[in-house]
Amino acid sequence: MRRNLVVGNWKMHGNISSNQMLLEQLIESLKDCKNADYVVCVPNPYLHQTRSLLQKTNIAWGGQNVNQFEEGAFTGAVSPHMLTDLGCSYVLLGHSERRVLFHETNLSAAARFDAAIKAGLTPILCVGETLAEHDAGLTEVIVASQMDAVMATLSDEGFARAMQLNMVFAYEPVWAVGTGKTATPEQAQEVHQFIRQRIARRNTEAASKVRIIYGGSVKAQNATQLFNMPDVDGGLVGGASLNAEEFSAICRIANSHTSSNCLS
Ligand code: PGA
Repeated sequence: MRRNLVVGNWKMHGNISSNQMLLEQLIESLKDCKNADYVVCVPNPYLHQTRSLLQKTNIAWGGQNVNQFEEGAFTGAVSPHMLTDLGCSYVLLGHSERRVLFHETNLSAAARFDAAIKAGLTPILCVGETLAEHDAGLTEVIVASQMDAVMATLSDEGFARAMQLNMVFAYEPVWAVGTGKTATPEQAQEVHQFIRQRIARRNTEAASKVRIIYGGSVKAQNATQLFNMPDVDGGLVGGASLNAEEFSAICRIANSHTSSNCLS
């Protein structure tokens, strides 16, 4: 049985007082939700505040990216150790906004992935095709190339470590991120199943255990149908994660759908 996972990606939003209100509301409304896992990935300057508010709750927190190096002259960069120092257990990697706006590549995602697992962070690797790639029927080719770049650099030991840390894949079609367009549950299921099969080429047991979450305009209104799909194990939520009511509604849906997701 895979537990559902809902990850909020705040992107570059928030301030000290709005964060406090949002987190306090989430703590209150999720305190009895024990059947799924909940994470918020907040901007780095607010990790300290997030840790103070969320420690001893059932909500974990993480970074939105991490550098591949441990320390050094890398102005503006944040190391894996800095994230763990601030109590992060998760980190997003290869988000489409990082790929498109900051020119991050599959290779750099692989290096960050490796650095994250060495530091004990659970990596959430984002993969997904653009609209042009989607329309050209290239979804599987693109998703496979994004996954393979990371998987190929992982030694057997690295793969085992990533599994121990419960590595997560997030399928985020770029055309659905922040656009209000969502993949249909069937479209999401097809790609999630493809991702799982791809992992199975490396290790079938791992494939049945790994959580694959969907991202791209997830809302309370579409979460039920998405989370009902057998290979969709929760969501990566951007815009809707900034609204406590909306985000906790999505989390509660994940909480009540965990039991329907059985090992395939
Ligand atoms: P969205 O963002 O929910 O606003 O589409 C998802 C994401 O970028 O992770």
